[in-house]
Amino acid sequence: MSGTIKLEVCESSADVALKASEIIASLIRATPDAAIGLATGSTPEQTYARLADLHRGEGLRFARVTSFNLDEYWGLDGDHNQSYRYFMDDRLFRKIDIRPWNTHVLNGTAANPDLECRAFETKILAAGGIDLWLLGIGTNGHIAFNEPGSPVDSRTRLVNLAPSTIAANSDGRFFKDAASVPRFALSAGIGTIREARRLLLLATGSGKADAIAQALEGPPSTDCPASLLQSHPDCTFIVDREAASRLESA
Ligand code: PGA
Repeated sequence: MSGTIKLEVCESSADVALKASEIIASLIRATPDAAIGLATGSTPEQTYARLADLHRGEGLRFARVTSFNLDEYWGLDGDHNQSYRYFMDDRLFRKIDIRPWNTHVLNGTAANPDLECRAFETKILAAGGIDLWLLGIGTNGHIAFNEPGSPVDSRTRLVNLAPSTIAANSDGRFFKDAASVPRFALSAGIGTIREARRLLLLATGSGKADAIAQALEGPPSTDCPASLLQSHPDCTFIVDREAASRLESA
């Protein structure tokens, strides 16, 4: 089947989270031992809050789920409050019954980054591949920390953060200033991400409108890494009205 990205436009970011959490919950109900890929950043926070609610209120179980996160800042250990390990523990893992040893977040202080990245890929293979990977998108079109120019077949590796990413993450939501943002990260590659059986990319707010238009309606190009998802056989973007505002088709 040749891929075309499916698009769902929601009225609000709350509706994006509702839809995304329902898709993830349905997957876990049908496949209790699912391997799910996760993302960090502002965008998935409401989705994680909703999944935690489903666990508390409706008994959605994560005990057999395995998770893999997209990326981690290089140089931050898991106790640092801006590390993605900390983020995941704080926003989701501690609120559900996922087993800590089944949660895989790259180690930003590994002695050998290449070994760490290779081990991550091996663990994905050992889990039988990823059933669904939840993604965000950067204002520059990046997915994970695959900045513009990243090859379509890239694997998990140590990468440089683009200046636009450093600026976006130092606006006070996460880091207080640009000087505090790490310059490097470990990131799953575009090739790694594209091997997931299903992809679900979320975007909210007008800041993402150009990137979403480029990803969906531009030519597939490494200039906009998310556009390289166009040929994936099962990829859905769930966006709010603001993030859809530059689309010709919406
Ligand atoms: P955000 O980040 O959810 O904080 O906007 C998304 C990304 O940079 O991929």
